[in-house]
Amino acid sequence: MRTVVVDDYAALSQAAADAIAATVRRKPDALLLLATGDTPMGAYRELGERYRRGELDTAQVRIAQLDAYAGIAEGDHRSLYGWMVSAFAEPLDIPEERTIRLDGRLPPAIACRDYDASVAAGGGFDLAVLGLGPNGHLGFNEPPIERDAPTRLVPLTPASLRSNARYWGGEDNVPREALTCGLASMLEAREILLVVSGAHKREILRETLAPMPSADVPASWLQSAAGEVVVLADRDALPSLP
Ligand code: F6R
Repeated sequence: MRTVVVDDYAALSQAAADAIAATVRRKPDALLLLATGDTPMGAYRELGERYRRGELDTAQVRIAQLDAYAGIAEGDHRSLYGWMVSAFAEPLDIPEERTIRLDGRLPPAIACRDYDASVAAGGGFDLAVLGLGPNGHLGFNEPPIERDAPTRLVPLTPASLRSNARYWGGEDNVPREALTCGLASMLEAREILLVVSGAHKREILRETLAPMPSADVPASWLQSAAGEVVVLADRDALPSLP
């Protein structure tokens, strides 16, 4: 696991965009697992601008959704699929046929089975772009969690309900259950990029990087990932390298 610290959020967004673009250059049909949330948005915007300037070829790029609230209708503004489409797929012209959906509208067991089957048939994730939850979650893999957690339906913890409230205008508007790509499959990605910004992530990032992985900090399992892991943080999140 490699840790890279940059000055601020702008630099983090540039560096994350560079890393994603490098994967796509190396493998034009890369399958990218994409977090929503605030942190990667600067990188996605930057990639959209590079694409518009003709600096990035996305003609074969494939994307997969990381997580989804359960049971919300098509067109609901809280759809994480909709968020991924408007933040990444639309600006980069990636059509639905090249998107693996974790479909919160389907019965959970079917949605998870279809998703895992599509990821396997697609050759697995080339790059997982992940954000760090305030409780250390990755996707909606909430603590405590073991490394082999599968893709599944999960109840949101109080900490995640609180942290998601800011996206949807209050805790009451946050759905109570979600589907998430399992920790086990995201840890199989050939590359993982964890993006972390802000002083409010400092303590949980310190715990993520602590020597022993622990069920209480889901992101600490990144230390046992199969592929290359880069933790990209700004100085507010990681004032000094561990
Ligand atoms: C989003 C997701 C979440 C976020 C995490 C950090 O699809 O799965 O795990 O990545 O909660 O969110 P931000 O980046 O908003 O701090």
